[in-house]
Amino acid sequence: MSIKSGLLAALIKNQGNYVSGEALSKKLFCSRNAVWKAVKSLKDSGFEIESSTKRGYRLISAPDALSVDTVKSFLDGFGEALEIQVLDTVTSTNDYAKELAAKGAKEGTVIIAQSQTGGKGRLSRSFYSPDKTGVYLSILLRPNIPLSECLMITSSAAVAVAQAIEAVSDKKALIKWVNDIFVDGKKVCGILTEASTDIEVGGLSYAVVGIGVNVTEPDGGFPDDLKDIVGALFKSGEKASRAQLVSEIIKRFFPLYRNLSARAFLKEYTDRSMLLGKSVRVINGDISARATALEIDRDCRLKVRFESGEEKWLSSGELSVKL
Ligand code: BTN
Repeated sequence: MSIKSGLLAALIKNQGNYVSGEALSKKLFCSRNAVWKAVKSLKDSGFEIESSTKRGYRLISAPDALSVDTVKSFLDGFGEALEIQVLDTVTSTNDYAKELAAKGAKEGTVIIAQSQTGGKGRLSRSFYSPDKTGVYLSILLRPNIPLSECLMITSSAAVAVAQAIEAVSDKKALIKWVNDIFVDGKKVCGILTEASTDIEVGGLSYAVVGIGVNVTEPDGGFPDDLKDIVGALFKSGEKASRAQLVSEIIKRFFPLYRNLSARAFLKEYTDRSMLLGKSVRVINGDISARATALEIDRDCRLKVRFESGEEKWLSSGELSVKL
């Protein structure tokens, strides 16, 4: 994490309380002067920060402007070759990225939207995507892997998002097999990877990994049909920076993606699992059966033991697993 991003994370985690310059310099492994420079840089980006010689720094307001410039300012030189676009509104960032892919857009094209009118989830579900309270992000990839490996893209993105959430907030992020991130018992993020195959080459022509994170609760809360299941990282009115979250996700995702075959994400994916060792419901269409979640293998299949004693490896496919 850059000093600027680390500083903002520390101020956000303290939500308006003072943090001393000394504590910050210890936490960020840098000099007090470097802290001061990072404060100045945040102020230049529109963050309102109060300084007191005795008490340190506190965040008064965060602009939460999600733009190419703000994302790049937190990327701090990482991924110079990324082609980032921020759209006001779009049907689905995944669909938009797929259109660009069909026109030849390159790996590393990143589409971010302030809102989506037709956000999509797994199993033909929709993803609620209200204006400016979430991060709706799709990354176009052109990996040289078989279709069967695409799930690893989802899993590595899940680890990247969980790490990024913990870097920018004081929340603990757990992964619910196969593509959901939970915080405080509620789903705060879903990931949908879609791919297109090239029959002639016999591999993938592209993959689009779509990530939706509920950053701040929408004013008035989530709709009735979602409010018991879905949550956000920050309460309405709390200070947050979606640009910082996007950049922390990107910085963590690409190194894991580049090491897919080495399964660089796998240990953490398993360690963060909220299902392992738990009693779950395995749902396939209209059929639901109770089982115990036992382990996750290197292809991200989930082994379960049904009440009958039968053990089975589940692949994500059309299945869903609930606690
Ligand atoms: C799920 O919950 O099953 C996955 C949700 C994925 C939502 C993200 S938001 C950005 C991208 N665009 C979409 O239409 N979907 C993904």
